[in-house]
Amino acid sequence: MPFTITAANSADSHEIAAVLRRSILELCTADHGNDPEKYEPWLRNKTAANIENWIHGQGGVFTAVDPHRKVLGVAMGAPDGEVLLNYVLPEVRGMGISKMLMRALEDYFRDRGLDRVRLASTKTARRFYLSIGYAEAGETHTGRGMTFPVFEKVLGDDGKAF
Ligand SMILES: CC(C)(COP(=O)(O)OP(=O)(O)OC[C@H]1O[C@@H](n2cnc3c(N)ncnc32)[C@H](O)[C@@H]1OP(=O)(O)O)[C@@H](O)C(=O)NCCC(=O)NCCS
Repeated sequence: MPFTITAANSADSHEIAAVLRRSILELCTADHGNDPEKYEPWLRNKTAANIENWIHGQGGVFTAVDPHRKVLGVAMGAPDGEVLLNYVLPEVRGMGISKMLMRALEDYFRDRGLDRVRLASTKTARRFYLSIGYAEAGETHTGRGMTFPVFEKVLGDDGKAF
């Protein structure tokens, strides 16, 4: 599946909300166990209106889109180096899309002069983050009745020659 990583466009907010919703409901079952008391609060702020605000806000929001501009995945980073969103559609999982979204976020953080990235990982994404160089920080983040281990990565040189 060919895809491009691009700065998120607020015209895609509804589609991005649908990607987040499907990714949480269909892929994150190891975390919410299909328990509405866990997944409903998780979904609650994933609205098109909030996404539009996030896109126009201070963080970096990136999407992976196919050649028809269909949104396949989304990632968002806060200006302080925290990854706030990283989700792909179930049918494109394992195609390297999130790896590229995370690379875009890491470049965004480097451009802001940051040398460290942090995130609270789902159980679902744990092996993925280990595979791209993140390590458990020994802390946890608790929210929505779930506990997520905090992962971090020190950003090295991106290999670009200036
Ligand atoms: C976690 C997630 C974002 C990964 O996205 P993805 O596009 O499928 O990941 P990629 O295809 O870029 O995978 C990159 C690497 O991680 C590995 N990987 C990805 N998911 C994996 C998994 N569940 N278990 C083991 N390895 C995994 C791949 O093998 C690949 O390694 P390789 O390139 O060396 O072969 C995706 O599974 C997802 O949306 N999950 C649900 C939402 C979620 O939990 N998000 C994290 C919030 S903190």
